[in-house]
Amino acid sequence: MDDIATPTLTASTDPFPEFPSDFRWGTATAAYQIEGAWNEDGKGPSSWDTFVRQPGKIAGAQTGDIACDHYHRWESDLDLMANLGVNAYRFSVAWSRVLPTGSAPHNDAGLAFYDRLIDGMLARGIDPYVTLHHWDLPQALEDRGGWQTRETAERFADYAALMGERLGDRVSSWITLNEPFVLATFGYSFGTHAPGRTLFLSVYPVVHHLLLGHGLAVQALRAAGVTAPIGITNNLTPVWALTDSDGDRAAAERLDTLYNRQWLEPILLGTQPIDPEVAYPGSDTSCVQPGDAEIIATPIDFLGVNFYNPQQVKAPGEGNPMGFELVDITGVPRTGFDWPVVPSALTDRLVSLRDSYGDQLPPLYITENGTSVADHVDSDGRVRDPFRWAYLDRHLRAIADAMEVGVDVRGYFCWSFMDNFEWAEGYDQRFGLVYVDFDTQQRIPKDSFRWYRQVVTGNAAGIVPGVQA
Ligand code: FCB
Repeated sequence: MDDIATPTLTASTDPFPEFPSDFRWGTATAAYQIEGAWNEDGKGPSSWDTFVRQPGKIAGAQTGDIACDHYHRWESDLDLMANLGVNAYRFSVAWSRVLPTGSAPHNDAGLAFYDRLIDGMLARGIDPYVTLHHWDLPQALEDRGGWQTRETAERFADYAALMGERLGDRVSSWITLNEPFVLATFGYSFGTHAPGRTLFLSVYPVVHHLLLGHGLAVQALRAAGVTAPIGITNNLTPVWALTDSDGDRAAAERLDTLYNRQWLEPILLGTQPIDPEVAYPGSDTSCVQPGDAEIIATPIDFLGVNFYNPQQVKAPGEGNPMGFELVDITGVPRTGFDWPVVPSALTDRLVSLRDSYGDQLPPLYITENGTSVADHVDSDGRVRDPFRWAYLDRHLRAIADAMEVGVDVRGYFCWSFMDNFEWAEGYDQRFGLVYVDFDTQQRIPKDSFRWYRQVVTGNAAGIVPGVQA
């Protein structure tokens, strides 16, 4: 019944918007999701290597041990990326590949891999956008408490310094953390992601140490001589109240604060919108030390925005300690993940960021946006994914709408370059522009790949195309 009521998603037939000629067009991936080679060439285990081995945690008991085997196939993958025509690529470094125990000594073979990768990108005219931590913490640090401890924030800064020294001459932009909200919430609060801890509302030290680690890493990169822009990537999710009632609006405010503001305002404004004693009853708040707020507020040069969908909430039922209850958004198209598709929410989000933070808001990049689709290879060998390019089309138009009213967006990174290991969902959710046959490791560019190539190359050539796949 739901299927009948769910609208389909199609690309717009209006002329495609014009983006600035220096706009960065890219794709994004993360180390654990694509690299494989989990225990090769001296790499140490990460929290994800450990987590995927726990029974019942990952759909189909899948792991990222091999993933897209990108560690061995990076060269042909970069050739394919060059064929896509993008001028930027956001990828992450596996911390335990370069520092197997999370701190010195470093692993030469691991560093050499990222040297090769970056040189390969530059040789193809693709700018490297490096994420330092996309959730795969060295297990040795996790064994000592991971992000619950100040030590992890400090080791993160050392790791950032090492990467700055080694790669700083070639990296275009640095992203300290990817989506700390998701790491804290699913990794440490509810335990559905690595490291699988269930701290619930006692998670505040994780929140604080992630913010602190970010600030320390910005300082460490600068001290290592990095002059390239440095930022952080958050999934800045618009939160809607189900109704205008006071209870629903308070619930929306609560989730907006947890999801968005508590990760932004300490960095952009130097203030924390939550009182940890109230927001996280039961948490040990003694982790906050004098001077931390200043470290966290170290200026950044850009903000990375990941956007997939808005979230709707209502007032919590009796005895619900979270302060909100999630409510499905209905009447809109849905992705393979069953996420609601609401492109206008991205426009609203970008405009509201500008309106809320004004001059304090640095330039924005959309560091992730995309959709999973139950793709399959047709008998003629082609992967037809009109839903994906309609999704991308609608969201790019939504970004153009925000830019039209003055929001400073500098680039767009489609999630993802290729199908990959989608965390707890394993390989079942395909987000790529490139289809990956995980049995053979064959890569097949999807229709959306050709569509995106027209967008990217058309923009570079100053053409406003009537884009079709
Ligand atoms: C984001 C993650 C990314 C990917 C997409 C679908 O939250 O940053 O690694 O899993 O979701």
